[in-house]
Amino acid sequence: MILIDTVAKMQQFAREHRGEIALVPTMGYLHEGHASLMQEARRRAPLVVVSIFVNPTQFGVNEDLDSYPRDLERDTRVAKDAGVDVIFAPKASDMYPPGYQSYLNVEEITGELCGASRPGHFRGVTTVVAKLFNIVAPKLAVFGKKDFQQLAVIRRMVQDFNMDLEIVGMPIVREPDGLALSSRNSKLNPVERQSALCLSRSLAAARGAFRGGERSVAELRQAALAPIEGESAAELDYLEFRDPDTLAPVQQAQENTLLALAVRIGAVRLIDNCILGEP
Ligand code: PAJ
Repeated sequence: MILIDTVAKMQQFAREHRGEIALVPTMGYLHEGHASLMQEARRRAPLVVVSIFVNPTQFGVNEDLDSYPRDLERDTRVAKDAGVDVIFAPKASDMYPPGYQSYLNVEEITGELCGASRPGHFRGVTTVVAKLFNIVAPKLAVFGKKDFQQLAVIRRMVQDFNMDLEIVGMPIVREPDGLALSSRNSKLNPVERQSALCLSRSLAAARGAFRGGERSVAELRQAALAPIEGESAAELDYLEFRDPDTLAPVQQAQENTLLALAVRIGAVRLIDNCILGEP
């Protein structure tokens, strides 16, 4: 495995290996969720590139850019164990040099859910992901369904801008007790870590009601809210039932309906989601 730390060197490598690369974009502090994406990339392409870049343009002014966890040494071990060939870890000043002024914006579907509480977030995500696609020129890129809206936004961008690569979406990897893996979990203290279980319990409650035949969104919402309202440390950001492709609100729940939620546990904002009818 090699480490490439400049855009110019990454582009040189990409020119020599066009058509062979699967890319896994990350912000580092890698965990088993990231590893599952790398393993899928490994199965699908001769070369796997993982980018590690805490992208400043996707963080709002009062968000956790400075405190976002970082550990390149540990990340290197995780990536190596997952069979990665190249870690691409550029500096922010290389990705956004002085004079930088170009941004890519996907419109409607970025205005809601995480986009509503994090203005400008998805503009930063699509900008950096488009830059990574241009620099690495992958034949495919792997993303997690943990960030369901992000995946939908990237699929939209790739379609709308005729980007010539395949986008692969992978299932959410969870802790044994149900908590979805996230780099931000490392910021939870032991009491908050326990409170954070209300997210997966909320999803489980809604899925249980759905399996029991409930199709009213109002009723399913009540079921999903109970575990969150029962947790004093939890503050709900949103809890929404949506169409999985357009992210439009639904009136009646169906097998493929997305339930997405965001909850603050102390200072840490966590997200989770499920498709109601999925096993
Ligand atoms: P990051 O939060 O590091 O996530 C990188 C990728 O790992 C994303 O595709 C995310 O959905 C996936 N992932 C995170 N937790 C997961 C889990 N528990 N199970 C499965 N997949 C999981 O998402 C970003 O970084 C950034 O926004 C990025 C796309 C890199 C652009 O900066």
